[in-house]
Amino acid sequence: MKILVTGGAGFIGSNFVHHLVRETQDDVVVLDALTYAANRDSLLGLPESRVTFVEGDICDRRLVDDLVASSDAVVHFAAESHNDNSLAEPDRFVTTNVLGTFTLLEAVRRHGTRFHHVSTDEVYGDLALDDPERFSESTPYNPSSPYSATKASSDLLVRAWTRSFDLDATISNCSNNYGPFQHVEKFIPRQITNILVGDRPVLYGDGRNVRDWIHAEDHSSAVLAVLRRGRRGETYLIGADGEASNLEVLRKILVIMGRDASDFDLVRDRPGHDRRYAIDSTKIREELGWRPAHVDFDEGLAATISWYRENGQWWQPLKAATEARYRDQQA
Ligand code: NAD
Ligand code: DAU
Repeated sequence: MKILVTGGAGFIGSNFVHHLVRETQDDVVVLDALTYAANRDSLLGLPESRVTFVEGDICDRRLVDDLVASSDAVVHFAAESHNDNSLAEPDRFVTTNVLGTFTLLEAVRRHGTRFHHVSTDEVYGDLALDDPERFSESTPYNPSSPYSATKASSDLLVRAWTRSFDLDATISNCSNNYGPFQHVEKFIPRQITNILVGDRPVLYGDGRNVRDWIHAEDHSSAVLAVLRRGRRGETYLIGADGEASNLEVLRKILVIMGRDASDFDLVRDRPGHDRRYAIDSTKIREELGWRPAHVDFDEGLAATISWYRENGQWWQPLKAATEARYRDQQA
C-alpha cells in the first residue's frame, strides 16, 4: 500500500511514519507544510526508497487531489495543535483544521480513497476531578477552546461526508501524547527543557488539572490498528489509563532530573482551561484487540527525559522563540 500521511513532520505524525516503516511493508508519502511545529529532522534515517516528502498545504486543492489520486489510503494528522496558540491566534486553526480537512474529504470522495482522521479527546470538553465517568464514543461533543472547536468541526465534517457520500472513513480521538519529537511548547517537553536550560518549570493555575497520558508509539499502533481493521464509519477512542495531574507529572520530572520536587513556579491559568480528560478505551481494545505497550508511565517519562538530554540539536533552535511567544501570550 501507499499511504499518504498529512502532518508527518510533526510530533505524532513523525512517530507514526517511523512506526509504519518499522511495522509494515507500506510506502509512505508525507505531506507537510513545515509550519513552526514541524521538524524535518524528525524523519531522518528513514529509507528514501519507502518514504517521500512533499512540502505543501492541505488546503491546496490541486496538490491534495494529485497526492490522494496516487495513494491507497490517507492518514490525516496535519493540524494546528496547540491550545495556547489557538487562544492567541485562532485564524489558522480554522483554516488548517476545518478547511484543510474539508479539502482532503473532497479529494478522497472523488477518488474513493480510504481515509483515517486523527482527532483528540478534547472534542468532548472536560470532566470534573471527582466525576466517576470517562469519555466514551457516545459522549456528546462540547469543545472548550478554539483548537478543540476546530477539531470537533473537522470530526463532524468527516462524519457527515461518510454518511452522505459513503466514504470509507474512520475517526480516532486520543488523549495527551508524550514521547520523542514533541515540540517544546507542549507541557512535558517544556518543563524538561526549562530544567535543561536552567529556567524554572511553570505550572498553570493550581496545577491540579488532569491529563490522560499515552506514549506516541502506542497512539501510532492504535491508529494503524484502526486503519487496518477499523469498521467503516466508526469512531474509536484511544487511551492508556494514564491519568495524572500536572503537578504529579511535574514532580516526577523534577525528581528524575535530580531537582527538588518544589522547584517550580505557579503562573496565571490558561483561559477556559479544561479541568480533566479521561478515556474509556474499551471499544478499541475489545473490537480490534489493541493494547498499549508503554504502560509504565515513570519508565516512559524517564526515557523521554533522556531523549531530550541526548537530542539538544533537535530542540535547542526552537526554545528561545517558543519562550518569547509564551512571554507575549502571558503579557
Ligand atoms: P504538531 O503540531 O506537532 O504537528 C502538526 C504538523 O502538521 C506539523 O508538522 C505541521 O507542519 C503540519 N501542518 C500544520 N498545518 C498544515 C497545513 N495547513 N498543511 C500541511 N501540514 C500542516 O501536532 P501533533 O501533536 O503531532 O498532533 C497531530 C494530530 O494529532 C493533530 O491532528 C492533533 O489534533 C492530534 N492529536 C494530538 C494529540 C497530542 O497529544 N499532541 C492528542 C490527540 C490528538
Ligand atoms: O488531549 C489531547 C490534546 O492534548 C491534544 O489534542 C493537543 O493537541 C495537545 O496539545 C494536548 O492538549 P493540552 O492542552 O492538554 O496540552 P498541553 O501540553 O498544552 O498542556 C497539558 C497540560 O499542562 C494542560 O493542563 C496545561 C498545562 N500546562 C501546559 C504548559 C505548556 C502547564 O501547566 N504549563 C505549561 O507550561
